[in-house]
Amino acid sequence: MTVVLETQAVSKIYKSDSTPIKAVDEVSLTIRTGEFIGLVGPSGSGKTTMLAMLAALLTPSSGTIIIDDHNLAEMKEAQRTRFRREKIGFTFQQNNLLPFLNAQENVELMLRLNNRLDKRGRERAQDLLTRLGLGDRLHNLPSQLSGGQQQRVAIARALIHNPNLVLADEPTANLDTERAFQVVETFAELIHEHDRAGIMVTHDLRMCHYVDKVVQMLDGRIERIIEDRAEIEALAGTARPVETPPAIAILNSEGAQNGNVGRLAQPAPRPGFQSLPA
Ligand SMILES: Nc1ncnc2c1ncn2[C@@H]1O[C@H](COP(=O)(O)OP(=O)(O)OP(=O)(O)O)[C@@H](O)[C@H]1O
Ligand SMILES: [Mg+2]
Repeated sequence: MTVVLETQAVSKIYKSDSTPIKAVDEVSLTIRTGEFIGLVGPSGSGKTTMLAMLAALLTPSSGTIIIDDHNLAEMKEAQRTRFRREKIGFTFQQNNLLPFLNAQENVELMLRLNNRLDKRGRERAQDLLTRLGLGDRLHNLPSQLSGGQQQRVAIARALIHNPNLVLADEPTANLDTERAFQVVETFAELIHEHDRAGIMVTHDLRMCHYVDKVVQMLDGRIERIIEDRAEIEALAGTARPVETPPAIAILNSEGAQNGNVGRLAQPAPRPGFQSLPA
């Protein structure tokens, strides 16, 4: 596995008010091809700031970010923009779909920007949207889609140009549990299938079931990196998956111990599903 991303002591200090805020504090991280990382931690721990720096949208106050052997700080702005468009795919907490383009056109936009939109690209956009359960919504405008459907369009857009690194900030925030599991499962498949690397920020620890490694942040620092499968499953609360859980099992799942990160700490068995109904 080759290294896709390496950060060395990356920090970000926001100086907006009188007291500077150290949002990210000397984070060093290595991610290789085929790895899907779950980035978790309490609100304000620096997850979005970290992702924005990795997406070359925000400049670190100090430290180095190397993606695909390129040091982001050594690039000129125009180079960085091109690099971001070609090598990185991202979806942020606000999905930023263009309101006047339909679902398929929003996904194709990344190819259009890179001058790579052809028949195959259009088919790929349709395939991706179909895999994410939107096969019958290809021609709807964002305003005609639910929040969760819009989020799935944004995920397809993040993957369409085959980026080396995919960054997703809370991709399941607007999805119900079953759809969230389906979307993250598909997301993981798409990362593993094409040997990309992916980082998903999530507050829902159950989603860690699909990641290869969990990075826990606290106060801007990496608190812990969990690589052991059994530990990840324990954190996700899916150590013993139940294929078709009775509703009562979910209702009664309060009070489980799942560590101290995230808002949705209670484990729920992974629902049994095989397909992606629209
Ligand atoms: N533009 C900004 N100016 C000043 N402070 C900021 C700015 N953006 C974020 N912060 C602060 O930096 C810290 C980290 O914020 P960040 O958005 O990275 O956290 P997060 O882990 O993504 O939180 P959440 O889970 O709520 O999305 C917080 O204390 C936040 O208030
Ligand atoms: Mg955030």
